[in-house]
Amino acid sequence: MGIKNIIIGLCLGIYTFCGCSNEPLQPIRSGEIWPDNNGEHINAHGGGVMYHDGTYYWFGENKCDTTSSAMVGVMCYSSRNLTDWKNEGVALSVVDNDSSDIARGCILERPKVIYNAKTGKFVMWFHLELKGKGYAAARAGVAVSDTPAGPYRFIRSGRVNAGKLPVNMDGQAVAVLDTLNAKNYEKWWTPEWTDAVNKGLIVKRDLDGGQMSRDMTLYVDEDGKAYHIYSSEENLTLQIAELSDDYLHTGNYVRVAPAGHNEAPAIFKKDGTYWMITSGCTGWAPNEARMFSSSSIFGPWSQHPNPCVGPKSELTFGGQSTYILKVEGKKDAFIFMADIWRPEHPSDARYIWLPVQFKEGIPYVEWMDNWTLDFFQ
Ligand code: GAL
Repeated sequence: MGIKNIIIGLCLGIYTFCGCSNEPLQPIRSGEIWPDNNGEHINAHGGGVMYHDGTYYWFGENKCDTTSSAMVGVMCYSSRNLTDWKNEGVALSVVDNDSSDIARGCILERPKVIYNAKTGKFVMWFHLELKGKGYAAARAGVAVSDTPAGPYRFIRSGRVNAGKLPVNMDGQAVAVLDTLNAKNYEKWWTPEWTDAVNKGLIVKRDLDGGQMSRDMTLYVDEDGKAYHIYSSEENLTLQIAELSDDYLHTGNYVRVAPAGHNEAPAIFKKDGTYWMITSGCTGWAPNEARMFSSSSIFGPWSQHPNPCVGPKSELTFGGQSTYILKVEGKKDAFIFMADIWRPEHPSDARYIWLPVQFKEGIPYVEWMDNWTLDFFQ
């Protein structure tokens, strides 16, 4: 090869590496097979995306063909353009030791990773259910890595904020809590029981052992403070917990929409307002999304109508929210991400990625068969 060809080759390489090529943008087709760099459908369900140093890292549940239990762990894929995804392998592996919290065959769902600029560590939180115990454990697990794609080192799992009352329960609410006696509410779903749940019946039940933590997301605010948002209290109430400088729980948390039955929280912030999209609780079957907003992450949060519009909007287009990604370098560009679950063939679950649009400042999401990132200005 002549020197001229080498120089041309080098220039082309650098050009492509910088992402400054004029290749046409690839369409995003929700609900279809999304091949990775090996031509295999991306296997990162219930996931979230972290942006770090010019690269997006997508973390999600590895699902196999026959069971929704975790037989592999958390996968990581990387991309610079959000459409070409490279399989980075297993970021957090389950282990062949039944006495481990993350034994192969446990339930490990909705992993999210955030970068801690103060410690230089990448921190993964996820929903963990112990092997063979169904959904009884309701734990949050945490793992850490020095590099974005991992491998992550499992630290521990457990319920959260043991011994702590929510910070948005005032003296009067705490006095009411003192009067609630679980024995009086053994029958669930009665109006009296719902009222008692609203007042904190399950917060009180779990005070000593820690609050339940299932479907979850993480959010890093502009000041670097991070929050863990999770379905708690038997999936009846969302809680938002503050994380410390190490991105572990501080013990400060609030309850959101008590007894409102919200799962699958996804959050973003625009112009000083936090927007949160959730689902109802119908397992793998889709239901109607909900939306909340607040000017402070610790609330008070107010509920809005379903953010999805158009055909199948009453079923979130067949999906369930998992994350809302801020697209870097574009103004007000957010992608609503959801999972179309396939419990009979879990690895064939599909992804919904749709742009968040705004009407008079209120977010909404509309189905598009395909769209490209230049939808955003
Ligand atoms: C869904 C939840 C999923 C998974 C599933 C199990 O409601 O969002 O993450 O836990 O239930 O049935």
